[in-house]
Amino acid sequence: MASHAPFTDSDTADEAVRATCDDASTCKRFATSKGYWSDPYIQYFVRQTGERKAPEINRGYYARVQGVNHLLDAFLQKTQCDCQVVNLGAGLDTSFWRLKAENTLPKKYFEVDFPMIVARKIHHIKAKSQLSKPLIETHSSDSLLLDGHSLDSDRYCIIGADLRDISSLEEKLRKFQINTELPTLFVSECVLVYMNPEQSYRLVHWAADTFHTAMFINYEQVNMADRFGQIMIENLQRRQCNLAGVDVCQSLDSQKERFLSTGWESVNALDMMTVYSLLPQDDMSRIERLEFLDEKELLQQLLQHYSICWAVKDALSLGISQIGF
Ligand SMILES: C[S@@+](CC[C@H](N)C(=O)[O-])C[C@H]1O[C@@H](n2cnc3c(N)ncnc32)[C@H](O)[C@@H]1O
Repeated sequence: MASHAPFTDSDTADEAVRATCDDASTCKRFATSKGYWSDPYIQYFVRQTGERKAPEINRGYYARVQGVNHLLDAFLQKTQCDCQVVNLGAGLDTSFWRLKAENTLPKKYFEVDFPMIVARKIHHIKAKSQLSKPLIETHSSDSLLLDGHSLDSDRYCIIGADLRDISSLEEKLRKFQINTELPTLFVSECVLVYMNPEQSYRLVHWAADTFHTAMFINYEQVNMADRFGQIMIENLQRRQCNLAGVDVCQSLDSQKERFLSTGWESVNALDMMTVYSLLPQDDMSRIERLEFLDEKELLQQLLQHYSICWAVKDALSLGISQIGF
């Protein structure tokens, strides 16, 4: 009879963290169904649930996706796509397909998440031609390297790994031909907050230490010491989800400090209220007409509790430190 290791608290905690992947994708799918932005691929990863999301949540996701995409696209433009992207804790993110459709793919697009999430993502890709066809089109040979927990092709690679285990992460990225000489963009969207500060410092330090020309975009909570932040923490704790990294989410300065003390040359951070006000105004007027917002205060509070922080190292002097809003 097969013996199974008993479940531990850390298994339960990791399971709750993995569940956040569905939350993010379900919210993104709902917002796209309302017309906030277009994502023809997300429908193949998550089903539309009957549950409606509040207009504040939809606008928050709009700002998140537009904000991150703005920096990602600027990096691809500055490097003329002669670069790599590594999406850490990518979940069911669909950026690879967007970039393929827009003809702005980097040399190679990597994603990392827990093996269980990666297995699900690979299952969807294999089952749906709308996902697998664009991938095959970017691949030179007939066969893709595919096993349950990783997928590798010329331009797209998904790796099952725990981001808290740097040596195993690095070994897997090298196995799939990450090139430390190429300009490299790291993206983490609501991911570092689930690791303790020591673990996330180690991860961003490793990135700065290993790549001479790089940018790191981190989207996550900020201003978490106030009452609203406390309620956000309690809501997640009720679902067994612990924000182990919340100490780094106290302020924009604490967000910046993580990068400044780990070898990055320059760092910027903005709360999402500011990002929201800097997004293109014509699209903003469009999305603000999509759903009626009773009162603006809740949206403002929500946006003030998330941030984008981006850090740069530019040994090749490509001008990536000029990237911003
Ligand atoms: C809130 S979801 C965000 C997913 C995606 N970045 C997005 O914005 O749609 C957080 C993701 O980070 C992943 N994650 C968190 N901690 C991780 C770790 N230690 N190793 C690998 N993945 C992790 C989770 O499995 C989950 O898919």
